[in-house]
Amino acid sequence: MKSGIAARPGSADVSGEAERRRTFAVISHPDAGKSTLTEALAVHAEVIAEAGAVHGKSGRRGVTSDWLEMERARGISITSAALQFAYGDTVINLLDTPGHADFSEDTYRVLSAVDSAVMLVDAAKGLEPQTLKLFDVCRYRGIPVITFINKWDRPGRDALALCDELIDRIGLAAMPLTWPVGPAGQLRGMLDLAEGNTIRYQPAAGGGAAPDLRLDPVRAEAEFGEDWRRAREEADLLLAAGGDFDLTRFTAATATPVLFGAAVRNFGVRRLLDLLVGVAPGPAPRFDTEERARPLDAPFSAFVFKVQTGMDPAHRDQVAFARVCSGVFERGMVVTNATTRRPFATKYAQQLFGQQRSTVDIAFPGDVVGLVNATALRVGDTLYAGKPPVRFPGLPSFAPAHFAVARPADLGRAKQFRKGVEKLGAEGVVQVLRSDRRGEAAPVLAAVGPMQFEVAAHRMEHEFTSPIRLEHLQYRAARRLADPAQRALVDAGRRSEVLTRLDGTDLALFVEEMDLRLLCRGNPELVLEPLVAEGG
Ligand code: G4P
Repeated sequence: MKSGIAARPGSADVSGEAERRRTFAVISHPDAGKSTLTEALAVHAEVIAEAGAVHGKSGRRGVTSDWLEMERARGISITSAALQFAYGDTVINLLDTPGHADFSEDTYRVLSAVDSAVMLVDAAKGLEPQTLKLFDVCRYRGIPVITFINKWDRPGRDALALCDELIDRIGLAAMPLTWPVGPAGQLRGMLDLAEGNTIRYQPAAGGGAAPDLRLDPVRAEAEFGEDWRRAREEADLLLAAGGDFDLTRFTAATATPVLFGAAVRNFGVRRLLDLLVGVAPGPAPRFDTEERARPLDAPFSAFVFKVQTGMDPAHRDQVAFARVCSGVFERGMVVTNATTRRPFATKYAQQLFGQQRSTVDIAFPGDVVGLVNATALRVGDTLYAGKPPVRFPGLPSFAPAHFAVARPADLGRAKQFRKGVEKLGAEGVVQVLRSDRRGEAAPVLAAVGPMQFEVAAHRMEHEFTSPIRLEHLQYRAARRLADPAQRALVDAGRRSEVLTRLDGTDLALFVEEMDLRLLCRGNPELVLEPLVAEGG
């Protein structure tokens, strides 16, 4: 198995290497076909011979991106991986986002590390809740989005109606680059609007990638008749209404190029890869906390967007995923962690390709490096080499909406309990809150979605060998308490209390928004600030 090209041999042309990288994520509602599309992309890149070897869910061959037993059992992807592969001369970095809404904080972190996103839409369902939420994150971060309308091989909605939905529901103008010939479920071909010809639909057997068979307009009309004429009319209608491809609108994230296809049949996928290579932005200079853009060819810098433990059940090691922002990463280099100002040796740097790991010796802007056993690293940390120091803005924590006190089920395992809770907090699996009042032994776990608790409980039992009991609290609203001296005002209420998060932030929790409003009305001097809301 090839795992992609990390660098041209002997090359240290940082800008050139950055330019040929495309770092993106696929965002979609569960079941829209994200795993299938990931496999199909890799097939086209000739990384693997057969779909199913990279990424998949329960029952599929070679489940590799979904590490945890629980994920397998539930058929959801919680953990995220980064795949790197070569497509022609381009290096593709595909970052996986968790599918379930409860893990949107995690998704947000992954999306902070991409330069573009592919929004995958099920042709029968259109824009679904999780697609909308993820799209909001892209909008918030100004991430350009390519839309891929999937499953055109089976009955679904009307192509024009799906494009209208993009503008009506998320305000993104559709710029179609292909258009299906034949309604969903009776796919016959695909107009390639840029090339002016039609690709015949021929489902690839066994997940392979068949070469495109292109027909000129005369042949296509003769072969597909009314279906072809209708497709042409519909596409022209949209193009005439301002749907012509416009790179500026795409990169400004005000319009989205739209492609149609069937990932499971490997149809339309090559066009998507070509589009990513052709128009999706490569890495750009990143702004530091002083709002200075760090040039791509400045000395090495990267930021940690994800820390994950237990990907390899045999070792239970911790991997910190860092996205390179500038310069060249060379394995073994000693870098500085901007948060702690301490040196960090990058001896064990890996690239994760599905479950296969290979050592990364060199990486460039846009690449993701997995730093193994990086126990000192936290999500949001900046790593840099040389001078001057640099620090990129940290990643915001979302406002939690679910809270539960965790206690060790077995009091004899208090040490493992403490260690596990600490680790889960540092990784961002859940937020960990404490107060003197509740004591060390009864931390409160806080989550954006309740499924985060399941992951925490599962890992406490299986990984840290300290099963926990969770006692759910009634709180639903959280704010940041700006002045620690005002703590007593909140603690005095019976329906509110203050807890301190691992990062030192004081969170004021309330059973209902109404409790919060009443307290503020009675104490106008109280300063409570909103936390980043879910979805940015
Ligand atoms: P996800 O990662 O977004 O959750 O979705 P996944 O790829 O697992 O796809 C969900 C289901 O949709 C799968 O069927 C998959 O085969 C199917 N699918 C994906 N792309 C297409 C497509 O282009 N056309 C059609 N017809 N189906 C598609 P499943 O029955 O749930 O699983 P499986 O047994 O087929 O793997």
